[in-house]
Amino acid sequence: MGIAIISPGRDVSKWKDNFQRLDASIKIQVYPDIIDNDDVEAVLLWQHPKGILRQFPNLKLICSMGAGVDHILSDREIPAHIPIVRIVDEKLTFSMTNYTLMGILNFHRQIVRYQENQKQQIWDMTNPEIEIHVGLLGVGALGGDVVKKLRFMDIAVSGYGNKPKTDLPYPYYYGDQLQKFLDQVNVIVCMLPLTKDTENFLNIDFFKSCTKGSYLINVARGKHLVEEDLLIAIEKGYLSGALLDVFRQEPLPKEHPFWHTKGIMITPHIASVTNPDAAAPQIIENYHRLKKRQPLINSIDPNLGY
Ligand code: GLV
Repeated sequence: MGIAIISPGRDVSKWKDNFQRLDASIKIQVYPDIIDNDDVEAVLLWQHPKGILRQFPNLKLICSMGAGVDHILSDREIPAHIPIVRIVDEKLTFSMTNYTLMGILNFHRQIVRYQENQKQQIWDMTNPEIEIHVGLLGVGALGGDVVKKLRFMDIAVSGYGNKPKTDLPYPYYYGDQLQKFLDQVNVIVCMLPLTKDTENFLNIDFFKSCTKGSYLINVARGKHLVEEDLLIAIEKGYLSGALLDVFRQEPLPKEHPFWHTKGIMITPHIASVTNPDAAAPQIIENYHRLKKRQPLINSIDPNLGY
Protein backbone atom coordinates (compact mmCIF):
# COMPACT_ATOMS: atom_id res chain seq x y z
CA MET A 1 0.00 0.00 0.00
CA GLY A 2 1.35 3.44 -0.73
CA ILE A 3 1.42 6.85 -2.36
CA ALA A 4 1.11 7.85 -6.02
CA ILE A 5 2.72 11.08 -7.19
CA ILE A 6 0.73 12.60 -10.04
CA SER A 7 2.26 15.76 -11.46
CA PRO A 8 2.53 15.44 -15.24
CA GLY A 9 5.58 17.02 -16.83
CA ARG A 10 7.40 17.81 -13.57
CA ASP A 11 10.52 16.14 -12.24
CA VAL A 12 9.27 14.56 -9.02
CA SER A 13 12.39 12.53 -8.23
CA LYS A 14 13.12 14.64 -5.12
CA TRP A 15 9.66 13.90 -3.74
CA LYS A 16 10.17 10.21 -4.38
CA ASP A 17 13.65 10.19 -2.80
CA ASN A 18 12.40 12.04 0.26
CA PHE A 19 9.43 9.72 0.73
CA GLN A 20 11.68 6.68 0.49
CA ARG A 21 14.20 8.19 2.90
CA LEU A 22 11.47 9.01 5.41
CA ASP A 23 9.73 5.62 5.24
CA ALA A 24 11.13 2.92 2.98
CA SER A 25 8.14 0.68 3.67
CA ILE A 26 5.77 2.93 1.68
CA LYS A 27 5.35 1.94 -1.94
CA ILE A 28 5.81 5.02 -4.15
CA GLN A 29 4.46 5.03 -7.69
CA VAL A 30 4.87 7.92 -10.11
CA TYR A 31 2.39 8.85 -12.85
CA PRO A 32 2.24 7.82 -15.70
CA ASP A 33 3.89 4.56 -14.51
CA ILE A 34 1.27 3.61 -11.94
CA ILE A 35 0.78 -0.11 -12.32
CA ASP A 36 -0.85 -1.21 -9.10
CA ASN A 37 -3.93 0.99 -8.78
CA ASP A 38 -5.17 -0.99 -5.77
CA ASP A 39 -2.02 -0.04 -3.83
CA VAL A 40 -2.71 3.69 -4.01
CA GLU A 41 -3.99 4.91 -0.65
CA ALA A 42 -2.77 8.49 -0.94
CA VAL A 43 -2.02 10.75 -3.88
CA LEU A 44 0.23 13.80 -4.15
CA LEU A 45 -1.16 16.04 -6.87
CA TRP A 46 -0.16 18.99 -9.00
CA GLN A 47 -2.24 19.62 -12.16
CA HIS A 48 -3.37 15.99 -12.32
CA PRO A 49 -5.41 14.69 -15.28
CA LYS A 50 -9.02 15.29 -14.29
CA GLY A 51 -10.96 12.15 -13.41
CA ILE A 52 -7.85 10.05 -12.74
CA LEU A 53 -8.63 9.51 -9.06
CA ARG A 54 -11.55 7.23 -9.96
CA GLN A 55 -8.94 4.62 -10.90
CA PHE A 56 -7.86 4.13 -7.28
CA PRO A 57 -10.46 2.10 -5.36
CA ASN A 58 -8.51 2.27 -2.05
CA LEU A 59 -7.78 6.00 -2.08
CA LYS A 60 -8.11 7.58 1.38
CA LEU A 61 -6.09 10.81 1.23
CA ILE A 62 -5.50 13.58 -1.32
CA CYS A 63 -2.46 15.83 -0.85
CA SER A 64 -1.77 19.04 -2.77
CA MET A 65 1.84 19.59 -3.78
CA GLY A 66 1.39 23.29 -3.01
CA ALA A 67 -0.36 25.72 -0.71
CA GLY A 68 -3.35 26.02 -3.05
CA VAL A 69 -5.96 23.33 -3.62
CA ASP A 70 -7.96 24.97 -6.43
CA HIS A 71 -6.27 22.64 -8.93
CA ILE A 72 -7.76 19.69 -7.02
CA LEU A 73 -11.21 21.09 -6.33
CA SER A 74 -11.67 22.06 -9.97
CA ASP A 75 -11.81 18.32 -10.74
CA ARG A 76 -15.53 17.59 -10.53
CA GLU A 77 -14.81 13.89 -10.16
CA ILE A 78 -12.86 13.90 -6.92
CA PRO A 79 -14.59 11.62 -4.44
CA ALA A 80 -16.34 13.92 -1.94
CA HIS A 81 -15.62 11.83 1.18
CA ILE A 82 -11.82 11.78 0.84
CA PRO A 83 -9.91 14.34 2.96
CA ILE A 84 -7.69 16.88 1.21
CA VAL A 85 -4.55 18.38 2.75
CA ARG A 86 -2.29 21.15 1.52
CA ILE A 87 1.27 22.25 2.20
CA VAL A 88 1.84 24.68 5.03
CA ASP A 89 5.55 25.00 5.46
CA GLU A 90 8.02 27.53 6.81
CA LYS A 91 10.17 27.48 3.70
CA LEU A 92 7.16 28.14 1.45
CA THR A 93 6.04 30.99 3.72
CA PHE A 94 9.57 32.44 3.91
CA SER A 95 9.90 32.58 0.12
CA MET A 96 6.42 34.00 -0.41
CA THR A 97 6.96 36.71 2.17
CA ASN A 98 10.35 37.67 0.74
CA TYR A 99 9.01 37.89 -2.80
CA THR A 100 6.12 40.04 -1.63
CA LEU A 101 8.37 42.33 0.42
CA MET A 102 10.65 42.70 -2.61
CA GLY A 103 7.67 43.85 -4.72
CA ILE A 104 6.42 46.24 -2.04
CA LEU A 105 9.85 47.80 -1.46
CA ASN A 106 10.55 48.08 -5.20
CA PHE A 107 7.40 50.18 -5.51
CA HIS A 108 8.10 52.15 -2.33
CA ARG A 109 11.68 52.99 -3.42
CA GLN A 110 10.86 53.35 -7.15
CA ILE A 111 13.52 50.94 -8.35
CA VAL A 112 12.04 50.57 -11.84
CA ARG A 113 12.20 54.35 -12.36
CA TYR A 114 15.84 54.45 -11.24
CA GLN A 115 16.73 51.58 -13.54
CA GLU A 116 15.18 53.44 -16.48
CA ASN A 117 16.99 56.61 -15.44
CA GLN A 118 20.28 54.75 -15.25
CA LYS A 119 19.90 53.53 -18.83
CA GLN A 120 19.48 57.15 -19.94
CA GLN A 121 22.12 58.56 -17.53
CA ILE A 122 19.51 60.70 -15.75
CA TRP A 123 20.37 61.90 -12.23
CA ASP A 124 16.97 62.71 -10.73
CA MET A 125 16.76 63.09 -6.97
CA THR A 126 13.09 64.12 -6.83
CA ASN A 127 10.49 62.04 -4.97
CA PRO A 128 12.75 59.17 -3.92
CA GLU A 129 10.04 57.44 -1.88
CA ILE A 130 6.36 56.77 -2.31
CA GLU A 131 4.56 56.68 1.02
CA ILE A 132 2.87 53.32 1.32
CA HIS A 133 0.11 51.61 3.23
CA VAL A 134 -0.05 47.96 2.25
CA GLY A 135 -3.36 46.10 2.01
CA LEU A 136 -3.31 42.31 2.22
CA LEU A 137 -6.20 40.51 0.56
CA GLY A 138 -6.13 37.30 2.59
CA VAL A 139 -4.37 37.05 5.95
CA GLY A 140 -4.08 33.28 6.36
CA ALA A 141 -0.81 31.37 6.88
CA LEU A 142 0.96 33.21 4.04
CA GLY A 143 -0.66 36.66 4.23
CA GLY A 144 -0.36 36.69 8.02
CA ASP A 145 3.42 36.29 7.78
CA VAL A 146 3.68 39.22 5.36
CA VAL A 147 1.67 41.36 7.77
CA LYS A 148 3.91 40.36 10.67
CA LYS A 149 7.10 41.25 8.81
CA LEU A 150 5.74 44.54 7.41
CA ARG A 151 4.75 45.58 10.92
CA PHE A 152 8.25 44.75 12.11
CA MET A 153 9.55 47.11 9.41
CA ASP A 154 7.14 49.87 10.58
CA ILE A 155 5.27 49.78 7.27
CA ALA A 156 1.55 50.56 7.59
CA VAL A 157 -0.58 47.53 6.82
CA SER A 158 -4.26 46.55 6.78
CA GLY A 159 -5.90 43.23 6.03
CA TYR A 160 -9.08 42.16 4.28
CA GLY A 161 -10.82 38.79 4.30
CA ASN A 162 -14.23 37.20 4.03
CA LYS A 163 -14.77 36.54 7.74
CA PRO A 164 -14.61 38.71 10.85
CA LYS A 165 -11.43 38.28 12.92
CA THR A 166 -10.92 39.70 16.36
CA ASP A 167 -7.91 40.78 18.41
CA LEU A 168 -5.68 41.51 15.44
CA PRO A 169 -3.03 44.14 16.20
CA TYR A 170 -3.66 45.91 12.85
CA PRO A 171 -6.74 47.22 10.98
CA TYR A 172 -8.73 44.40 9.43
CA TYR A 173 -11.81 44.61 7.21
CA TYR A 174 -14.10 41.91 5.89
CA GLY A 175 -17.06 41.26 3.63
CA ASP A 176 -18.81 44.45 2.53
CA GLN A 177 -16.12 46.64 4.15
CA LEU A 178 -13.97 46.39 1.01
CA GLN A 179 -14.27 50.07 0.12
CA LYS A 180 -13.15 51.14 3.62
CA PHE A 181 -10.13 48.87 3.22
CA LEU A 182 -9.30 50.20 -0.25
CA ASP A 183 -9.58 53.79 0.98
CA GLN A 184 -6.73 53.11 3.45
CA VAL A 185 -4.22 51.41 1.19
CA ASN A 186 -2.15 52.10 -1.94
CA VAL A 187 -0.35 48.76 -2.36
CA ILE A 188 -2.65 45.76 -2.73
CA VAL A 189 -1.28 42.25 -2.34
CA CYS A 190 -3.57 39.43 -3.43
CA MET A 191 -3.03 36.26 -1.38
CA LEU A 192 -6.59 34.99 -1.52
CA PRO A 193 -7.39 31.34 -2.07
CA LEU A 194 -9.05 30.79 -5.44
CA THR A 195 -12.71 29.91 -4.89
CA LYS A 196 -15.93 30.61 -6.77
CA ASP A 197 -16.28 33.78 -4.65
CA THR A 198 -12.79 35.11 -5.33
CA GLU A 199 -12.46 34.29 -9.03
CA ASN A 200 -12.31 37.60 -11.00
CA PHE A 201 -12.14 39.55 -7.71
CA LEU A 202 -9.56 41.91 -9.24
CA ASN A 203 -11.77 43.47 -11.90
CA ILE A 204 -12.42 46.95 -13.26
CA ASP A 205 -14.93 47.83 -10.52
CA PHE A 206 -12.35 46.87 -7.92
CA PHE A 207 -9.65 48.94 -9.65
CA LYS A 208 -11.96 51.97 -9.93
CA SER A 209 -12.52 51.73 -6.17
CA CYS A 210 -8.78 51.76 -5.38
CA THR A 211 -6.89 54.84 -4.21
CA LYS A 212 -5.72 56.42 -7.46
CA GLY A 213 -2.29 55.17 -8.50
CA SER A 214 -2.34 52.08 -6.28
CA TYR A 215 0.09 49.27 -7.02
CA LEU A 216 -1.07 45.65 -7.36
CA ILE A 217 0.88 42.51 -6.48
CA ASN A 218 -0.75 39.19 -7.40
CA VAL A 219 0.93 36.10 -5.98
CA ALA A 220 -2.25 34.05 -5.61
CA ARG A 221 -3.81 32.73 -8.81
CA GLY A 222 -4.19 34.07 -12.34
CA LYS A 223 -7.94 33.60 -12.20
CA HIS A 224 -8.29 36.22 -9.46
CA LEU A 225 -7.46 38.84 -12.07
CA VAL A 226 -9.48 39.95 -15.09
CA GLU A 227 -6.41 40.58 -17.20
CA GLU A 228 -7.98 42.98 -19.74
CA ASP A 229 -9.30 45.07 -16.83
CA LEU A 230 -5.80 45.48 -15.44
CA LEU A 231 -4.61 46.90 -18.75
CA ILE A 232 -7.49 49.40 -18.71
CA ALA A 233 -6.85 50.26 -15.06
CA ILE A 234 -3.19 51.07 -15.78
CA GLU A 235 -4.02 53.03 -18.91
CA LYS A 236 -6.63 55.11 -17.05
CA GLY A 237 -4.33 55.63 -14.04
CA TYR A 238 -6.52 53.82 -11.50
CA LEU A 239 -3.41 51.76 -10.86
CA SER A 240 0.19 52.82 -11.39
CA GLY A 241 1.42 49.31 -12.09
CA ALA A 242 1.52 45.70 -11.06
CA LEU A 243 3.83 42.86 -10.16
CA LEU A 244 2.33 39.58 -11.32
CA ASP A 245 3.60 36.08 -10.61
CA VAL A 246 0.50 34.15 -11.74
CA PHE A 247 -1.56 34.20 -14.91
CA ARG A 248 -4.75 32.75 -16.35
CA GLN A 249 -2.64 30.80 -18.82
CA GLU A 250 0.81 29.56 -17.79
CA PRO A 251 3.34 29.79 -19.32
CA LEU A 252 2.17 33.27 -20.30
CA PRO A 253 1.61 33.16 -24.08
CA LYS A 254 4.26 34.99 -26.11
CA GLU A 255 1.67 37.33 -27.64
CA HIS A 256 0.23 38.38 -24.27
CA PRO A 257 0.32 42.19 -23.72
CA PHE A 258 1.65 41.77 -20.16
CA TRP A 259 5.12 41.03 -21.57
CA HIS A 260 5.40 44.59 -22.85
CA THR A 261 3.01 46.79 -20.87
CA LYS A 262 4.74 49.69 -19.13
CA GLY A 263 4.21 49.40 -15.40
CA ILE A 264 3.71 45.63 -15.41
CA MET A 265 6.48 43.42 -14.10
CA ILE A 266 6.08 39.67 -14.42
CA THR A 267 7.75 36.58 -12.99
CA PRO A 268 7.02 32.97 -14.03
CA HIS A 269 5.05 31.64 -11.01
CA ILE A 270 8.17 31.41 -8.85
CA ALA A 271 7.16 33.56 -5.88
CA SER A 272 7.21 30.45 -3.74
CA VAL A 273 7.79 26.97 -5.05
CA THR A 274 7.28 24.01 -2.73
CA ASN A 275 10.61 22.53 -1.67
CA PRO A 276 10.27 18.71 -1.50
CA ASP A 277 12.99 18.43 1.17
CA ALA A 278 11.03 20.76 3.44
CA ALA A 279 7.51 19.58 2.60
CA ALA A 280 7.83 15.79 2.21
CA PRO A 281 7.80 15.11 5.99
CA GLN A 282 4.29 16.51 6.39
CA ILE A 283 2.97 14.27 3.62
CA ILE A 284 4.48 11.21 5.30
CA GLU A 285 3.24 12.44 8.68
CA ASN A 286 -0.29 12.63 7.25
CA TYR A 287 0.09 9.19 5.67
CA HIS A 288 1.00 7.75 9.07
CA ARG A 289 -1.84 9.65 10.75
CA LEU A 290 -4.21 8.20 8.18
CA LYS A 291 -3.03 4.69 8.99
CA LYS A 292 -3.41 5.31 12.72
CA ARG A 293 -6.79 7.06 12.20
CA GLN A 294 -5.44 10.22 13.82
CA PRO A 295 -6.53 13.76 12.84
CA LEU A 296 -4.71 15.03 9.75
CA ILE A 297 -2.63 18.20 9.65
CA ASN A 298 -3.16 21.06 7.16
CA SER A 299 -6.59 19.80 6.09
CA ILE A 300 -8.81 22.02 4.01
CA ASP A 301 -12.56 22.40 4.00
CA PRO A 302 -13.77 21.52 0.50
CA ASN A 303 -16.94 23.56 1.05
CA LEU A 304 -14.93 26.71 1.73
CA GLY A 305 -12.37 25.82 -0.94
CA TYR A 306 -9.33 26.41 1.29
C1 GLV B 1 1.73 27.53 -5.62
O1 GLV B 1 1.20 28.24 -6.40
C2 GLV B 1 1.12 26.84 -4.52
O2 GLV B 1 -0.11 26.70 -4.45
O3 GLV B 1 1.88 26.40 -3.64
